[in-house]
Amino acid sequence: MITIIGAGKVGTSAAAFMMLKELDDILLIDIIPNKPQGEALDLGHAASIFGISVDIRGSNDFKDMAGSDIVVVTAGFPRKPGMTREQLLTKNAGVIADIASKIKEYAPNSIVLLTTNPLDAMTYVMYKKLGFPRERVIGFSGVLDAGRLAYYASKKLGVSPASIVPIVLGMHGQAMFPVPRLSTVLGAPLTELLTKEEIDGIVQETVKAGATITELRGYSSNYGPGAGLAVMVEAIKKDQKKAFIASVYLTGEYGYNDLVLEVPIILGKNGIEKIIELPLTEEEKKGLAESAASVKKLIDLLPDEYK
Ligand code: 2OP
Repeated sequence: MITIIGAGKVGTSAAAFMMLKELDDILLIDIIPNKPQGEALDLGHAASIFGISVDIRGSNDFKDMAGSDIVVVTAGFPRKPGMTREQLLTKNAGVIADIASKIKEYAPNSIVLLTTNPLDAMTYVMYKKLGFPRERVIGFSGVLDAGRLAYYASKKLGVSPASIVPIVLGMHGQAMFPVPRLSTVLGAPLTELLTKEEIDGIVQETVKAGATITELRGYSSNYGPGAGLAVMVEAIKKDQKKAFIASVYLTGEYGYNDLVLEVPIILGKNGIEKIIELPLTEEEKKGLAESAASVKKLIDLLPDEYK
């Protein structure tokens, strides 16, 4: 069973995509009375129309997650127009710490994915509070940042995003570090295929993509995150050993310790099966260091009880 905590827009989009992929039965948990039950009913009707036999239930009781092998955490205060991900820091750290205690109690063997912002710092809090091996605590949003880089590059190149390998490292936030030299069309780097101005444009669109959506429609993204979660859960459920960019607690990789950053990983039935260390130039290492410093700053701002 897949448990999704938070039956808001991200949680329900993730549930819809997972249902379409027939990954497993789904439990939606939310603290708002009746909300997860109502969402589950609507999604259940959709499954019925598609002829998909996936059981989708809603609950206000964390106990019901018992037996889940995957727990997806989407709960937390979302970004409002004009708000940065960082402003959510302390509010959401409290939410994550609370949820970590429930997961520890009811689904101690699960693999945990999360979307709550500021993502890297919240992944850090989740890792510290759960005490699970780092392989089972995964911040999802590198998939979103990389997907956005592929989207904008695809528009510029006239090439399917499926043929683009997008690389974004570091923080999920303004300080994220897209790496055009390592982002390729079947091995041909973007830096060979596009002009510097075109690449700068793509990088900027990627970095501000989340804010663009929020400004345009008044609330933050949900279909992108829902899709990212669905493909990651699929990789775990089917033991695909597929490569993704995701936020992980680092113990020396890329030269960082006790820090969560977006890096390439391999996902399979055990969660993170491998972390891939890409060969970076000196300049790229500097770029990543700036991004890492922004995450470190946030983690340093966390009250001690969350570390
Ligand atoms: C995004 O990038 C809100 O972090 C979310 O869309």
